[in-house]
Amino acid sequence: MAFIPVATIDEIPEGKGKCIEVGGREIAIFCMGGDLYAISNVCPHQGGPLAEGKFEGDMVVCPWHQWRFNIKTGRSPVSPKLKIETYPIKREDNRIMIALPE
Ligand code: FES
Repeated sequence: MAFIPVATIDEIPEGKGKCIEVGGREIAIFCMGGDLYAISNVCPHQGGPLAEGKFEGDMVVCPWHQWRFNIKTGRSPVSPKLKIETYPIKREDNRIMIALPE
């Protein structure tokens, strides 16, 4: 699995999201509890920007109509069938790296 550098650690403050574009995808990166998570930035409801959502526990809340997604699993707490894409993410020194599906 090839990891691509997408940001530096100081660009992702604790409790905030950042949208990055890589490989034609919009990906939301979050830092929560010192750990990094990467999910699709595009809400499946009407395309709201999940990187701009607020946290509720492990959930990010879409800023447009408040749909919620678990940032660790991508799953909706309302419908088990509703799941957004998650991406492997890691830190190397100051860099944040993401792996895209092959
Ligand atoms: S666009 Fe995200 S809840 Fe509607």
